[in-house]
Amino acid sequence: MSTATLKSSGLEGQSAGKTAVCSVAQGDLIYRGYEIHDLAEHATFEQVAYLLLVGEKPTDSQLAEFKKELVSERALPQQVIDYLQAAGPMLKHGSAVPMDVLRTCVSILGNLDDHSQATTHQANLIKSKRLTAKIPTIIGHMQNIIDGREIVPPNAKLDHAANLLYMITGDKPTPEMARVIDVSLILYAEHDFNASTFASRVISATLSDMHGAVTGAIAALKGPLHGGANEAAMDMLREIKHDMGKGVSVENWMSKAFADKRKLMGFGHRVYKNGDHRAPILHKLGRVIAEQKGAEATEWFDIGEQVQKIMLDEKQIFPNVDFPCGMTYFVMGIPIPQYTPIFVASRITGWAAHIMEQHANNRLIRPIAEYVGPPQRRWND
Ligand code: CMC
Repeated sequence: MSTATLKSSGLEGQSAGKTAVCSVAQGDLIYRGYEIHDLAEHATFEQVAYLLLVGEKPTDSQLAEFKKELVSERALPQQVIDYLQAAGPMLKHGSAVPMDVLRTCVSILGNLDDHSQATTHQANLIKSKRLTAKIPTIIGHMQNIIDGREIVPPNAKLDHAANLLYMITGDKPTPEMARVIDVSLILYAEHDFNASTFASRVISATLSDMHGAVTGAIAALKGPLHGGANEAAMDMLREIKHDMGKGVSVENWMSKAFADKRKLMGFGHRVYKNGDHRAPILHKLGRVIAEQKGAEATEWFDIGEQVQKIMLDEKQIFPNVDFPCGMTYFVMGIPIPQYTPIFVASRITGWAAHIMEQHANNRLIRPIAEYVGPPQRRWND
């Protein structure tokens, strides 16, 4: 490709390769042929994970076997638990945030995995399942350590999403809460060549290993312009509510944000300029949970809806999935710094599917840059 064809920075609108995993378009979002509303309404996260990793919808017996494998892989090696304990003071001090600690845990899991260096499909599939099973346990144990409580071991009787919530809070979630988390995991599972997935493909394309590619993807997802937006969106809503307590209306808060040219977190998207398909699905479910919890919880959705309306009226910018996710996880009592790690607990399936696709048909990803630096000069001049 000549540099002349690079229309703008950020590779906007550029196709960077082919994939059979997912299609992201203004009109629809499709995982291996299945549309996202269909999946959110009729599938479970485990079914979607199987679909992404294996390529087809599982039969009942394949699903039962897959779930059994995930449950059997949930426990963490002692070395990872020891590191989580050691990371407690770093998390308290603030030099590390949960996404950093999760990234290091994945790296340690690679050091301990007997298939760590292999890039065959079979080895990659085994590692994908192990990571999918273990990441929720890392999140749960980490939160238990932050809260200074006994570690809550995984519960084999609970499905993936319910077990994740259980390990974080120590309480078995209601079926409604478990379903909402399950749907959020379905919505977050895959999104073609988004920044973190693309990072994982660049790493895999050097024939590096899955744990390395996932470690890099976690670093990419952490940023507030990408997955970190779900935490940033809720922080922003809390700031708005705090200022409302001092007499500032949502309208005035937004006017100032616009005047300051502030980016509103959880709004906008590189591909979806007319709305993110995932956002209304999660918003509706999150609002139901909030209404069940009472007026204090519902108020977050009321404020969020005002922000959305002003953003749409004034800027014609829609919320992305991270906006309702922030409010939904908040009213469920999940600590804000774990929102992006929970995104990882889901997106691991999409990343793994892309890493396997890259390894199966590999060519090094190595674009060129347009040089805009000083003209050639001599060191001794
Ligand atoms: N708040 C205020 N203005 C915005 C926002 C926003 N969230 N998003 C876009 N705009 C404005 C932007 O300033 C630009 O205005 P102008 O033409 O006057 O300079 C115009 O809209 C076009 O935006 P852009 O910067 O060309 O959009 P982009 O495709 O480069 O960026 C984005 C996409 C997601 C990085 C950006 O919308 C953003 O920073 N959003 C906030 C962070 C966020 O919510 N990220 C989550 C992304 S989706 C899910 C995920 O990956 O987790």
